[in-house]
Amino acid sequence: MKILVTGGAGFIGSNIVDGFIENGHDVVVVDNLSHGKRGNLNSKVKFYNLDIRDKELNKIFESERPEVVCHHAAQISVPKSVDNPIEDADINIIGSLNLLECCRLYGVKKVIYPASAAIFGEPIYLPIDENHPLDMMSGYGVTKHTLEHYLKVYKELYNINYTVMRYANVYGPRQDSTGEGGVVAIFCEKILENEVPTIFGNGEQTRDFVFVKDVVEANIKALTELDNEIYNVATNTKISIDDLFNMVCNILNKDMKPVYGEERAGDIRHSYMTYKKINEACGWKPQYSLENGIKETINYYIEKGHK
Ligand SMILES: NC(=O)c1ccc[n+]([C@@H]2O[C@H](COP(=O)([O-])OP(=O)(O)OC[C@H]3O[C@@H](n4cnc5c(N)ncnc54)[C@H](O)[C@@H]3O)[C@@H](O)[C@H]2O)c1
Repeated sequence: MKILVTGGAGFIGSNIVDGFIENGHDVVVVDNLSHGKRGNLNSKVKFYNLDIRDKELNKIFESERPEVVCHHAAQISVPKSVDNPIEDADINIIGSLNLLECCRLYGVKKVIYPASAAIFGEPIYLPIDENHPLDMMSGYGVTKHTLEHYLKVYKELYNINYTVMRYANVYGPRQDSTGEGGVVAIFCEKILENEVPTIFGNGEQTRDFVFVKDVVEANIKALTELDNEIYNVATNTKISIDDLFNMVCNILNKDMKPVYGEERAGDIRHSYMTYKKINEACGWKPQYSLENGIKETINYYIEKGHK
């Protein structure tokens, strides 16, 4: 199958590209390298260094004629979406619409799209299911959710199928560990370097962490199944940030105490999501325990050159 992956040089997108290629698919990547890295790119892909907002995107669709588009390019920073909501909307809504128009014009059969748990706000009940009320607390939540509506509209108007997957907190190899990167990536890199990470808040807040290779499997399923529905991709388990810190320390055999900083405005207290719906639809369930996923992630950072 010919698949175009946007954001295929980024953390999740590049892992998905590897999974698609291992499954024998022909993959084209569009990424402007604003946050992705050339080094993440699978050597078997055809790469276009282009912004999804660029009108030249038409030409790529005209020559490549993908059957499926897996749309992972996005402005992913919640604070940036608060500081510059226009830029956030320009990339995540206008850029995505530029892409959907190409899908319409060039006969794409299906779009796979990752939405986010950022659309739920402080949960009213746990675990969060697909019908949980929405309460967006940032521009990022709004722009990621907006595409869910557009995808439904493009299905109604132009019969382009879609799968929306609302990921929990994804972690694993290639995740950015700088700045406001993922907490697992930050803990792994810092603790490997004997640096003490800061935990914002009292460390008792809980999250649902799903390993990127499990996310890849969900995307592979979505190529041929899971049409025109929204699914959580999560583990239905929660761990506190303190326990996560201790788990990374134990795996690395380090004796450390975290430093605590002030709780960040807008941070939710507790969150985890059920994967019952996707499990019933196609049998997907997470294969990695958090401990095994973290061990693979640590190996990645060690191979990258950390002791
Ligand atoms: N990381 C998570 O836990 C998580 C959770 C839910 C949803 N998501 C979604 O998954 C997708 C991938 O996230 P990630 O964590 O891998 O982030 P990432 O930043 O590593 O990947 C995004 C990629 O998109 C590219 N990109 C950004 N703007 C672009 C533009 N205008 N044109 C072309 N390329 C552009 C970046 O260069 C990067 O390679 C995003 O859509 C994100 O919203 C991520």
